[in-house]
Formats: sequence, structure tokens, C-alpha cells
Amino acid sequence: MAALFRRSTVLPFLLLLPLLLFSVSPLACGKLINDGGEGGEEGEQFAEELLLKPLPDRKVLAHFHFESTTPPSADNGRHHHLFPKAIAQLVRKFQIKELELSFTQGRWNYESWGGSDSLSSTNAKPPGVELWALFNLPVKEIDATWKNVTHALSGLFCASVNFLESSTSYSAPGFAFRSNVSNIRYGALPREAVCTENLTPWLKILPCRDKAGLASLMDRPSIYKGYYHSQRLRLTSSELYGIILEQTLTVVLQPNSKRNAAHSSLDVSIQPSWSISSMFNKKVAGSCVLAKASRILIELEKDIISKLEKMGHGDSWSNSVFDLFPSPVRVIKDFNSLPGESNSILYEYVNHNEYEALDVGIKWKIPFVWSSPHAPFHVSRFLMGSGNERGSIAISLQSTKLDEELVHKSQGCTMQVVIFQVVPWYVKVYYHTLQIFVDGRLQNSSDMIEKMQVTPSEDKMLPGTLELMLKYPCSVQSVILTLDFDKGFLHIDEYPPDANQGFDIPSALVTFPNFHSSRKYVKDEFSTDSPLLRKFQEKNVVLSYTEVLLVPLTTPDFSMPYNVITFTCTVLALYFGSLLNVLRRRVGEEERLLKSKDAAKRGLIPLLFSKLSSKIKGQNPESSNSSSLLGSKFLIIIVVLLAFLWHYFLN
Ligand SMILES: *[C@@H]1O[C@H](CO)[C@@H](O)[C@H](O)[C@H]1NC(C)=O
Ligand SMILES: *[C@@H]1O[C@H](CO)[C@@H](O)[C@H](O)[C@H]1NC(C)=O
Ligand SMILES: *[C@@H]1O[C@H](CO)[C@@H](O)[C@H](O)[C@H]1NC(C)=O
Repeated sequence: MAALFRRSTVLPFLLLLPLLLFSVSPLACGKLINDGGEGGEEGEQFAEELLLKPLPDRKVLAHFHFESTTPPSADNGRHHHLFPKAIAQLVRKFQIKELELSFTQGRWNYESWGGSDSLSSTNAKPPGVELWALFNLPVKEIDATWKNVTHALSGLFCASVNFLESSTSYSAPGFAFRSNVSNIRYGALPREAVCTENLTPWLKILPCRDKAGLASLMDRPSIYKGYYHSQRLRLTSSELYGIILEQTLTVVLQPNSKRNAAHSSLDVSIQPSWSISSMFNKKVAGSCVLAKASRILIELEKDIISKLEKMGHGDSWSNSVFDLFPSPVRVIKDFNSLPGESNSILYEYVNHNEYEALDVGIKWKIPFVWSSPHAPFHVSRFLMGSGNERGSIAISLQSTKLDEELVHKSQGCTMQVVIFQVVPWYVKVYYHTLQIFVDGRLQNSSDMIEKMQVTPSEDKMLPGTLELMLKYPCSVQSVILTLDFDKGFLHIDEYPPDANQGFDIPSALVTFPNFHSSRKYVKDEFSTDSPLLRKFQEKNVVLSYTEVLLVPLTTPDFSMPYNVITFTCTVLALYFGSLLNVLRRRVGEEERLLKSKDAAKRGLIPLLFSKLSSKIKGQNPESSNSSSLLGSKFLIIIVVLLAFLWHYFLN
């Protein structure tokens, strides 16, 4: 009876238990998410955004932007629920004020993908790895800390960033990289290969990894198939705002143009239509629940908009030129233009529906041509001279056509250009040989150089650094700088594998301090809540990275030791083989054997004949035996002598 009673009270409770749990759990989850997402200005925050942009050369730019922030540590203690703990520890331990690490494959095409907009001035990076860091430390501690930072980063990102530890591979820029800071270090590894093993740890820092939200679009085959791939991490830490971690991935992809081919064979010049699913083989299925904002933006450049306006379409997203699908939630205009000029437009899509996949795209209807905004000068760098002894580096600045309008507008203006170039020690640059050619004519360089700072290289200690500020009239069409150098010799164990490929000189950085890229959006709650738009509104100097140079150095013939070994072994084998053969041979026995054979064969009469003939010659038949013995001894002596001579001459 008692048992029955007990069961009857326990059973309803057991039935209620799941109900209770269910009613509690959404509350708990909601609270957690609130803590992360809407914890006000004080809490940790995360936002994800994706910008898509058609490029003039039939490609598409996809720019993923993730931002995590944490308030100053005094408010928050050491506990993090959104912000990656590894990064926070890195910042605190090494007193990092700012840091940027980028892994890039391919070269940004400044001519057709844009050279002066906000996106290219912050996200176009040199090939390989680039790392710079600004420390909040006394100058004498910086070098030691830099070494530890490179080790920590190489562990975090599975890359050989630790090669930047050695003093030959990093430098301390004076004014050319960042004006007036002394505690900055800069290093680049142009040959570092970038692959998924670098992307995976980078994604691990995101709160939702690549399991949900926009990061789930990162289908590895699609993003590594692109023409350009740059994965970047930027840290900013201050007492006031805490730590801001900005992670961006910029890829330039070629959309599949199969559909277009079916469309019409005549429209070869029509831009390929694309959508998220055609480029990444996936649609966006909901946002990362921890993200405060998750949105997709499509950007149309200035030139497209001005052409559309001429055709009378304004900013509509469905016109005779193209259709954007689905319809955007909002149209955001840039207001930072001179009167009478058009500006770029962003179309916004909010990504929040978990049940309906979002597939944003564009469909072109007629052929349409436009161009990207250029930097005032197109920069390139090349090598001159031949042979393995010396050569010269040339940096060429060619005025872009677009700048002509600017020149006409402001007669008598001057152009400022800052060049920052790091050269490894084995390329010994003679800085006094600097020559400047303006429009093909040699110019007195003291007239053009406004500021110059040179750190000569030291063998196996320090790379050479050249920082140069040039000033010349805007009407100049081309400027070419040349510098002569000698090629150094490396120790045999300093050669990297495959040394015959050549040695890379990292990209030079050319900045145009008078030119800034920034946009202005109407201030509303949206523009302050979007980290990407906030980033676009910052004033960034227009800059370009040059190509990486490949310098062939004198390399020893690495196959020589093997040739020597094989050759010596052959000779030794021949020598010992013949020596042993001679030593082993029992001459007397052989001859007796031969004789007995001969006797058996020839019979008695021929034997007699031979004896007779030897008698006639006056020789003992036995003596031939001894003479052959003598002959073989002689042979041995000759071989030994030869071997001795061989060894003597070889050494
Ligand atoms: C760097 O690391 C070394 C070895 O782990 C350590 O001894 C040194 O104190 C560290 N230096 C700094 C500035 O953190
Ligand atoms: C650095 O530049 C800023 C303005 O750009 C100036 O206010 C500051 O005094 C400069 N600092 C040094 C150390 O020159
Ligand atoms: C270059 O200019 C400097 C100063 O203006 C002058 O002293 C020098 O002689 C000039 N050199 C040449 C080759 O004209």
C-alpha cells in the first residue's frame, strides 16, 4: 500500500520534470544570448557581415568581416564568453596596442579591382605573410617581446610566423609605415604558402566557428579556387574601448558562367550573373546566434552608379541593366562626394531567418562596362641587370589616367609619395646610387626627396630599410627610381630548400599621404551598429603594395657532393675489384690446370712439339711460369702506384 502511494506521487513528478526543464531552458538560453548579444555597450559583442561586389573584369569580390569586442579587462575580469581567450591573453601578456597579421595568396589587381577605395586600402595585402605590431612597452623590451609574439602567433595559426623572429627578417620602420611611432615592428614572409591549415585556426576564434552564420559559406574548394585570397586578423587594444578583434577574409572569385553560356552565345561581353549559392555551393542558413548583427551587403561602385544615373535608373535595384534578388531591405548611399559626382551604393540584406535560406545575387541583362577607382599612381617594381654578381631594383610610378582631371582642377599642386622598402641583407643595396628619372629624364634627386631615412643592412644581422618621401608636381607622368645592389653569399646551411628558385624580396609599400579613402553615411542607428560601415568611414591613406621580386643568387651546385661521391665510389670499386682479382688469382695452379687440359686435348705429340720448340728457343718450360708470376707482381705494383698517384692528385 505504501509502495503504491509512493509511486503515485513520484509518477506525476516524473511526468512534470521534462516540462519543467523545457520551460526553464529557453529562459536560460535567452539569458545567455542576451548576455552575449545585447548586453549593452559594456558587454562583449560579435557581429558578422559579408560584402559582395561585382568587379569590372567579370569577377566577384567577397569580403567577410567579423568583429569581436571585449570591454577593458578591469570591468570584465579574465572571463570571456564570446571573445577568444587566447587573443585576450596574447594582448595582455605582450602589451599589444595594435597588431595585424595577414595571410595572402595571389596579388591584388590594383588596376581592375580598385586602388583607392576603403576596401583596397585596408584589405589589399602583399603575398605571403605580413605582420606588424605596435607595443605599449619601453623601446628596449620591444625586440624580445616581438620574438615571443611571433612564436605565440605561429602556434595559434599553424604557420611559420616564427621565422620573423630572427633579426634579419623584421625591421623597425621610422616614418614610412606609420607616421611618428617608434615602437612598431614590421616583418614579411613573401614565400609562405597559405592553405586551409591556416584558415581552420582562424575560424576557431569565431564564436560559431564555421558551423553557423556567414562563416558557414566558407566552402574550402570555392574560396581557395579564387584569384586572390587574403585572410587577415587585426587587433586594437586601448584602455578606453577594450580589445577589438577584426577578422576579415577577402576573396576574388570567378563566378560560374555556365548559365550565361546557355543564355546567349552572342553576349560574350555580358557580365556573368552570380549568387551566393553559385559561388560558394551553399546558401546562408540563418545567422550565428551569438552575433549581434548579421548582414549581407552588395556594393555597386561609383562608376556603375554614375552610368546608371545617365541612363535614368538612379539607385533602383531592378532596372534594364541588372536585377538584384531578392529585394534589399535598405539602400545605403555614400555622401562623401563632390557635387555633381555619383557615389557608391550599398544594398543591405539582413540575415536572420533560420528557416528560409538566403541566396543573394545579381543578374545582368545587358553588357555593361565600368572601371574601378584608381590610386593616383600605378606602382610596380622590377629588377634590372643580368648575371649573378650585381643588379638594380627599379620602382616605377605611372600616373593613372583618372588623375588627369585632378591635375586640371588644381594647377600647381604637389604630389607626395612615401616609399617603404625592406631588403634582406644578402641583397646589398648601395643607397648612394639612387637615381630618379622624371618623365624619362634624370633629375637631381635632392630636388625631389623631401625626407629620407636609410638603415643599411648588416651581414646576417639586419635587413636594409629604405624610407623615402618624394614630392613632385602632379603633372608628372612617370617617376622611376633605381638602386644598384650586389648579391651576397650565404653560408651553405643558410640556403632554403630549393634555393635555385631564387630569393624573394618582400613587397615595397607605397603610400599617397595626400589621398584618403573614406565614405560618409548618414548617421543613424544602423551605421553605428555596423562594424563594416564604421570601418569604411574611417580615414585611410591610399596605398599600394608592389610585386614580390625574385632575385637569383649564386647558389652552390648542390648536386656536386653526390657527383663526387658516385665518381669516387666507381673508381674505388674498379680499383679494389681489380686488386682483389689479381691477388686472388693463383697463377701457377691455373696454368697447371690449363696445361693438363691442353695435354688431355692435344695428346702427346703436340706436347712434345711444344717442348721441343721451347728447347730450340733455349728456354726452360718452367720459366714461363715464373715470368707470368713476375708479370702479375708487376701489375699489382702498377695498380698500387696508380692508386697512390690518384689519391695524391685528388687531395
Ligand atoms: C619571452 O620568452 C622567453 C622564453 O619563454 C622568456 O624567458 C621571456 O621572459 C619572454 N619575454 C617576454 C618579454 O615576454
Ligand atoms: C604624432 O603626430 C600627431 C599628429 O599627427 C602629433 O599630434 C603628435 O605630437 C606626433 N607625435 C610625435 C611624437 O611626434
Ligand atoms: C643638385 O642640387 C644640389 C642642391 O640644390 C646642388 O648642390 C647639386 O650640385 C645639384 N647636383 C646636380 C648634379 O645638379
